[in-house]
Amino acid sequence: MAKNNGRSKAASFFSDGFFFVGGGLVAFLLVWALWSFFALSPSPTPTPTPSFSTSSFSAAVPESCDGGGGGVSGPNLRYDPPEKNFYDDPKLSYTIDTPPVKNWDEKRREWLKQHPSFAAGADRRILLVTGSQPTPCKNPIGDYLLLKLFKNKVDYCRRHGIDIFYNNVLLHPKMFSFWAKTPTVKAAMLAHPEAEWIWWVDSDAAFTDMDFELPLDKYNHHNMIIHGWPHLIYEKQSWTSINAGVFLIRNSQWAMDFMDTWARMGPQSPEYDKWGEIQKSTFKDKIFPESDDQSGLVYLLLKDKDKWGDKIYLESGYYFEGYWMEIVGNFENITERYKQVEAAEGRLRRRHAEKVSEGYVPVWEEHLKEAGYGRGSWRRPFITHFTGCQPCSGDHNQMYSGQTCFDAMQKALIFADNQVLRSYGYVHPDLLDPSTVLPLPFDYPAS
Ligand SMILES: *[C@@H]1O[C@H](CO)[C@@H](O)[C@H](O)[C@H]1NC(C)=O
Repeated sequence: MAKNNGRSKAASFFSDGFFFVGGGLVAFLLVWALWSFFALSPSPTPTPTPSFSTSSFSAAVPESCDGGGGGVSGPNLRYDPPEKNFYDDPKLSYTIDTPPVKNWDEKRREWLKQHPSFAAGADRRILLVTGSQPTPCKNPIGDYLLLKLFKNKVDYCRRHGIDIFYNNVLLHPKMFSFWAKTPTVKAAMLAHPEAEWIWWVDSDAAFTDMDFELPLDKYNHHNMIIHGWPHLIYEKQSWTSINAGVFLIRNSQWAMDFMDTWARMGPQSPEYDKWGEIQKSTFKDKIFPESDDQSGLVYLLLKDKDKWGDKIYLESGYYFEGYWMEIVGNFENITERYKQVEAAEGRLRRRHAEKVSEGYVPVWEEHLKEAGYGRGSWRRPFITHFTGCQPCSGDHNQMYSGQTCFDAMQKALIFADNQVLRSYGYVHPDLLDPSTVLPLPFDYPAS
């Protein structure tokens, strides 16, 4: 699996310009929040008023609320007190080629103190960050695919109360393609002091389990989570021992410093050529000479374990992201297995509002105990990553055809959309036909 998870060959991935991020915006949630504020609160007030009771906001802070509301107030989106904070420092720089922000943990904490309505759920709040290139895709269906991949992320985020930022500009003009994520993540950390985690998800990755949630408790002692295999890093020294296309990073001083160190291997840096040589000589399986972000990350794990490696969790217990080639053949069978569970479990056939879909996850879990996780499992894979497909440029890996990639993406996206559409009363009967849906009968699929 690992050896397949590399990107396509150097030539094609450089011409791809930018297959970078993917993401969206919970506009509805924000608009709703603003509206309810206007409706319930006569004027901006320094602290959330008891009458500002928005039980729907429990979605934004799922861990702190029971879903029933219980008088929990949502974040006050209109309150920014005049007392100075880090934003008022003229020396604060959002760009990646300036020294990292100092004392970021304290500055974030101060900001949260000034904005007490964000306190509930602050330790688990996530911002998903993704994006794509500023200009039209070279692949004629590239923008079509990117839109569907973006919709998929918006769907996941809406169901879980996660905010999403879709960036479609190179924040540093020289940091193209996979390097574009480092300046974006730094800027996102500064723009979102209320978020504990920044979750980078490449544009070519799709959520294929709309219910699964990141097991954040497991990551209490770590600052970065990536999909990877320790033996491939420390024994094989392979540049594909991890995948840098999806990662979770704690909004922290550690991350500020890490981004700075990592970005110094990038094309905007005077050390770029030197890092290309170092990476090439370190990783025997790396065939192209230019420094890349993934090799850079493996290098930091390998050579600077004390400084960085100990705080990076290599997740391989589930599909934190998974290579599409080993996943897409299973979607039909997984669909069938899940249908059998629904046929046997009346609680899962009950129609319900999309807002409360998280409440059904424990019921599913009762029936998924035997399913396992990851490869060989019949559990829905959490994230399917179309590594090598290059949907925007179309310069896919020559190991497979463009059609194979396209069909696989359609399948994954429809598989995911069926999980969403269920709340809206419809289903796609065919994973390769994006146009056709059927209405779902009451109590579907009763045995
Ligand atoms: C799907 O299930 C069928 C019938 O049980 C089985 O023959 C087939 O090998 C399965 N396909 C995959 C990809 O596991």
